[in-house]
Amino acid sequence: MAFVYKSDPVRGAVWARLFAERAPQVAFHVWPETGDPAAVRFLAAWIPPPDLARLFPNLEVLFSAGAGIDQFDLSALPPDLPIVRMIEPGLVRGMVEYVCWAVLGLHRDMPAYLRDQRAEAWTQLRVLPAAGRRVGVLGLGVLGCAVLEQLRGFGFDCAGWSRSRHAVAGVACFAGKGELPAFLARTDILVCLLPLTADTRGMLDARLFAGLPQGAGLVQVGRGPQLVEADLRAALDAGQIGHAILDVCDPEPLPPGHWLWQHPKVWLTPHIASMTQPESAVEVVLANLRRFEAGEPMVGLVDRGRGY
Ligand code: GLV
Repeated sequence: MAFVYKSDPVRGAVWARLFAERAPQVAFHVWPETGDPAAVRFLAAWIPPPDLARLFPNLEVLFSAGAGIDQFDLSALPPDLPIVRMIEPGLVRGMVEYVCWAVLGLHRDMPAYLRDQRAEAWTQLRVLPAAGRRVGVLGLGVLGCAVLEQLRGFGFDCAGWSRSRHAVAGVACFAGKGELPAFLARTDILVCLLPLTADTRGMLDARLFAGLPQGAGLVQVGRGPQLVEADLRAALDAGQIGHAILDVCDPEPLPPGHWLWQHPKVWLTPHIASMTQPESAVEVVLANLRRFEAGEPMVGLVDRGRGY
């Protein structure tokens, strides 16, 4: 059985070592090595090679090297090819760390203190207990639920919104377009952890911002095209959004001279909120391979109609 990895080659070398240790029966190749392409049954890729079906005629599963699959052109992939997103504990932990850092930073007024430091101003703001801060997470998948669990641990007043109804212990859950206004109205710090789909493209727009309490914080760790950047700029300049922490933008990398680089109310990081960790990811992929061979459903199997 042959498996090809096509993503960051440095991490690919770690995958290769782990496969050699844990699944020596698998012929593992790091792209552009493929061995005999006709023997390749499994591919883990961030961006699959063009003309995948012709190149690997016997491919049985495509694994995304990351949590998202929006970078795949689904129309260019064989319609019956199973696609699996990366749900692995290392990636989840990284996201929990980043979002907690961002929410705590906004909660504890760090943007104001950094500005004050540069101005040599010693100004103490009132310390609001976490219980008095309402945090709302858009997206109640594995990442959203893990983030909420940790935020609850700090004592934040937590809510979550998703397309379909979810129940999360200790979290006020809202579902569907109809309940979005009520969710936004009770959200001082909004975290976006939604996948990019036709429904979520452009969702972070002027209307959504207007539904938040004035001065709300935004943490965007979803996908760049979900944010209408011009609407964010207007909301920041009007004070409707107090501060935005963005880990994703559109396009990536952000072009030189773009206003987001320099806006005083924006902190920007280069899509590093979380990354697939080879150690834990290989475990998850091997477990999925066992499930696949046993005819059982794989964890993270993508519903193409739903888009994630
Ligand atoms: C990163 O954004 C990922 O999808 O893993």
